[in-house]
Amino acid sequence: MSLNIFCPLFVIFCCDLVFGSLYFSGLNEYRYDYKHVSEIDGWIKIHLFPAKWKDARLRCQLEGAVLASPETPELASTLKSIVTERFPSGLYTGVHATFSHGDYFSVEGTPIGKMSIEWAPNEPNNHEDSEECIILQGNGTAADVVCTDLYPYVCYRRSPVILNECGSVDPEYVYERRTGSCYKFHYVGRSWPRAFMACAAEGAYLTVINNNEEATVLSELFAQHPVANITADSKDTAHIGFQNWGEMTTWTTIHGQSIQEAGYWTFYPYPASFNAKNVVCGAVYRSGGLDKLPCNEQAPFICEKSPDSLLGRIIT
Ligand SMILES: *[C@@H]1O[C@H](CO)[C@@H](O)[C@H](O)[C@H]1NC(C)=O
Ligand SMILES: *[C@@H]1O[C@H](CO)[C@@H](O)[C@H](O)[C@H]1NC(C)=O
Repeated sequence: MSLNIFCPLFVIFCCDLVFGSLYFSGLNEYRYDYKHVSEIDGWIKIHLFPAKWKDARLRCQLEGAVLASPETPELASTLKSIVTERFPSGLYTGVHATFSHGDYFSVEGTPIGKMSIEWAPNEPNNHEDSEECIILQGNGTAADVVCTDLYPYVCYRRSPVILNECGSVDPEYVYERRTGSCYKFHYVGRSWPRAFMACAAEGAYLTVINNNEEATVLSELFAQHPVANITADSKDTAHIGFQNWGEMTTWTTIHGQSIQEAGYWTFYPYPASFNAKNVVCGAVYRSGGLDKLPCNEQAPFICEKSPDSLLGRIIT
């Protein structure tokens, strides 16, 4: 882990050739959407869009982070200043009792008694025996709430961070020289909207196919995941980044181009017709041909990411 000390910027490329990954702990880089905070020796992202507790936890995890809790006095005071300055109506923490009613732990497994928490008067009160998630209120005191209530939240990533050549902490993102992009095949199925969310949280997007070569790359990726390894209703077709955007006319990518403009529009082996109202989401078949699926179908999906780390900019 001390490698980075001997690995100044101009030789990172060489170090990477030798060690296969990039040791970034000395550099204040994690993701463009995270901010480094030296007092807590890590990175945070404030999610303004209020979410249910479970979705907040999942999104932080997909971002390579955790839903932040007052684990240390430094983290407690950082969270307290965020809530008092910006969120008078409250902020979720990662402290919950969703495994066992009444047993409060952080998502990292720290029991509540070891954390720096100041309860509001008469809290926790487990109102109507239904409160299993902990928020910080506008004045920094804690209270228990129903986990389906909506609150903003903070994701936290502790140092050090090791980014791979895809600029990701996730080893499943693999760089593909033929297209200059990184891909991850998710073999546990999700609906198209949840797949879109998972890719976005990973700093990626549902893949968009731009030419025949990219279709070949994706069919090779699919071939690495035989039917038996796919946990989803759909085994041979994966969600990717196009759909009909509510129209029965033009297949359009998530980047707003028709599939013709994007550069690849071969449906194979099934035709492209809009033959059923609910068949509106874009997919790729094992062959690399385009296909379509109901948007709510639990299907595997493929995320694409530009290797926008420092190393990625050197390579491309
Ligand atoms: C903090 O806010 C809560 C909720 O509004 C309130 O019940 C509590 O009395 C306040 N505590 C302090 C110390 O101001
Ligand atoms: C498929 O799953 C089996 C059993 O879990 C595992 O041994 C094998 O490595 C997997 N293959 C791939 C390509 O993931």
